[in-house]
Amino acid sequence: MATIHDVAHRAGVSTSTVSHVINDTRFVSDETRTRVLQAINELSYQPNRVARSLRARRTHTLGVLLPNSANPFFADMLLGVEAVAYDHGYSVIFGNAIEDPQRELSYLEVLLATQVDGILLISTGIFNEALKTVSARDVPVVLVDRSTEQLGVDSVLTDNAYGGALATQHLLSLGHRRIGCITGPPELIPMAFRIDGYRRAMAEAGVEVDETLIVNGDFQHESGYNGCRKLLSHPEPPTAIFVFNDLMAVGALCALHEAGLRVPEDVSVIGYDNVPLASYTVPRLTTIGQPSQMMGRMATEMLVSRVKNPDLPPRHQLLDVTLIERASCGPLHNRD
Ligand code: RIB
Repeated sequence: MATIHDVAHRAGVSTSTVSHVINDTRFVSDETRTRVLQAINELSYQPNRVARSLRARRTHTLGVLLPNSANPFFADMLLGVEAVAYDHGYSVIFGNAIEDPQRELSYLEVLLATQVDGILLISTGIFNEALKTVSARDVPVVLVDRSTEQLGVDSVLTDNAYGGALATQHLLSLGHRRIGCITGPPELIPMAFRIDGYRRAMAEAGVEVDETLIVNGDFQHESGYNGCRKLLSHPEPPTAIFVFNDLMAVGALCALHEAGLRVPEDVSVIGYDNVPLASYTVPRLTTIGQPSQMMGRMATEMLVSRVKNPDLPPRHQLLDVTLIERASCGPLHNRD
């Protein structure tokens, strides 16, 4: 395998000149640069990546912290991250917090010890701790999905307040008034915005919110199943349910089926995220679509540019969400 000495000898330059050409760490004339690159090509020389990174303090690796890689929403986001990272010559290391803030912090330490060039943080929700840790190490970071623009840190978010209102307005337009909610973990920023959107839409329609029709879930299927059973046990059950993510909506559909209730004839259900599974439930799930893969792509572009230009002012992207109408929502029927 060719060494840096072979390249230097072939190009007629010193090994330090070869190193400066590879790491772009000093001016080298075009004529000399061309001779060095030609020698590298002819010899198929592969610079020692770790040695190169130690010299240039770049590992060309990005760290990604995900709340739960088993959730298709985040798996889809990771596809966008990896595609853009690869195009820019970066590798990706991701840590799966499984919605556990302590696990998130320990993974964060691993990523920082690995000297990643930057971090994409989709936090478990107690992002202040994780963000403080990253900021203290002066590592470029972009916050995705679970954050607010008020932190003065690059962020890529979606309009959760609009999404909550959109889902609720859709159910109201079908005549529903007793509209239940199965929320995600209430401490998460997006949940606060979605429930605000729900309350705003109900208020604008002159419909009073029955707080006993709002139950909390944890984004997993089972909490949607149990939350739906709780709503069905209510003395005056809802005729429609807004579920704050598709995985919980799948659990709710199962509970409704087991209770012998038809969807949407007896109860309408709307989810959130538009994961691929939503197209194949029975009935197919009406939901609010989030551009998860685009979020991953945009956040990675933002992070790569931050790594190259640390002094850029904070940037914030707020992406739209859309109503994806399928078959799980229908007009209010008088229950016979
Ligand atoms: O399904 C996971 C949920 O957590 C999504 O709605 C996403 O917005 C994230 O916050």
